[in-house]
Amino acid sequence: MTTTAYQFRNAPAQLGPLQQVLDPITRHDLAKIPIRPGWRALDVGAGAGSITRHLADTVGPTGGVIAVDLDTGLLDPTNIIDVHRRDLRDGLDLPITPGSLDLIHARCVLEHLDNRTDLLMQMIALLRPGGWLITGEIVYSRPLIHHAPCDDESQLIHRVIHAILDTLDTGGTDLNWGNHTHAHLLDAGMTHVHSHTRADTWTGGGPGCLLLADNAHQLHDRILQQTDLDEADLRRFGELMVDPTVALRGYHFTSTIAHKPQ
Ligand SMILES: C[S@@+](CC[C@H](N)C(=O)[O-])C[C@H]1O[C@@H](n2cnc3c(N)ncnc32)[C@H](O)[C@@H]1O
Repeated sequence: MTTTAYQFRNAPAQLGPLQQVLDPITRHDLAKIPIRPGWRALDVGAGAGSITRHLADTVGPTGGVIAVDLDTGLLDPTNIIDVHRRDLRDGLDLPITPGSLDLIHARCVLEHLDNRTDLLMQMIALLRPGGWLITGEIVYSRPLIHHAPCDDESQLIHRVIHAILDTLDTGGTDLNWGNHTHAHLLDAGMTHVHSHTRADTWTGGGPGCLLLADNAHQLHDRILQQTDLDEADLRRFGELMVDPTVALRGYHFTSTIAHKPQ
């Protein structure tokens, strides 16, 4: 068993903005897969379940979606959705016949887990021949601030975003994992592997900046311990993240789709 602890709490203030920022990208990617009514899908680290629900709408009542997470408090079971509480550090360990699933989705979860490579292989083993895997991860990129009230505040935003990423890195999140997924999938014999990376402009008060504000809030104590930022800096960062004159380039998100050969 591996030991790195997940570094965030599943607060709606985090997962709401995360879903608002990433769901359009993931839905666009899912639209490339010929998902049919009746398919059986798995959402790994389902969080607040927006993609679980989207998949349930797509596979319909003749299909099924299994949602697995350590914290299932924001996931509601339905006649289509089965919810399982699991610690993925112990592996997938689900009542699923190997080689039976049509589709697996895992977004912003493997990067947080030490056993990410094993989990990726376990997911591939659960797919049927011809099944699809879609993963997505935030990947490290240097912060870029387009606009702030003044140069000092632009610097402050830059330092806090850097501190968020550094703190996650020292806590065991692999912000380069999304850059390696493609190679792991090819090495595992997957075909039609395609990755793309996207970063959008985020404006103060919008979901991306609210996500940054919540990330800084959740990592508050460790940022103060590990950097030279102080309480007033973090308070000002929170204010800037709702200032509509602020514009910055948001987190880079790399999405990868792969097909298990027939
Ligand atoms: C950043 S959230 C992403 C949620 C969702 N996939 C999304 O993109 O909206 C990461 C998710 O991974 C889950 N997670 C983290 N560590 C876990 C573990 N050891 N076992 C199971 N789930 C875990 C968290 O509870 C959280 O729901």
